[in-house]
Amino acid sequence: MNITNIKSFVEFYKFLGITDCVMRHPRNKFNLNLSIKEKEEVKPKNRIMSISDRLENLKSEIKALDCNLKEVATNLVFSDGNHNSTIMVLGEAPGANEDKEGKPFVGEAGKLLDKMLGYIDLNRNNFYISNIVFWRPPGNRTPNDKEISKCLPLTKKHIGLIKPKLLILVGSIAAKSLLSSQDGITKLRGQEHFYIDKDFNLKIPARAIFHPAYLFRNPIEKKRTWEDLLEIDELIKKEKIL
Ligand code: URA
Repeated sequence: MNITNIKSFVEFYKFLGITDCVMRHPRNKFNLNLSIKEKEEVKPKNRIMSISDRLENLKSEIKALDCNLKEVATNLVFSDGNHNSTIMVLGEAPGANEDKEGKPFVGEAGKLLDKMLGYIDLNRNNFYISNIVFWRPPGNRTPNDKEISKCLPLTKKHIGLIKPKLLILVGSIAAKSLLSSQDGITKLRGQEHFYIDKDFNLKIPARAIFHPAYLFRNPIEKKRTWEDLLEIDELIKKEKIL
């Protein structure tokens, strides 16, 4: 039926005194309680959320977390780097500089970490970086088990959103927490690991390295860190991770 036909069709019905159009499934205009199916039909199509929106939502969830560290910290330290990267680096917890700037690994340890990763061509344009704990523990103490277990579900969600192809775990706390191991970093480094999260259906290759702050205190371990970095570089190339 073309437009002219429709117009004369409507006019003919008006001439007959018909003012309403009854459809095959009459609709009660006074009843605004739409059925679930109808509600779905009028609802705008589910927008596919961008990764930036999802990360913003996660940040809001973290801000609402009931964690004692939040009360004494200046800033929430969320992340830095490229959220589209296939490599995610995770440290322990922010220090004083990170707390001030609201960005992970910006102090002395961060500079050394950037230098170490730079040796194998990794930089903040091609990796994404965060911490297990989102606020600075007072006096830069190690976060305790309660603080770690408060933050860990959201850190896991963070990994689930980024879905990296490789996790680099910096230091003992990051390695133990995400590999669910009681072993220390000396044992965990230099070995193949997988980060497994059944909730997000993830099995991600993971490597643990010494924390740069530990390397300041134990420079002798730089040699073993160099070997670990070379092995990570080999893995990235072999598995075409970047
Ligand atoms: N040490 C960490 O583990 N994370 C930071 O962000 C800074 C120092």
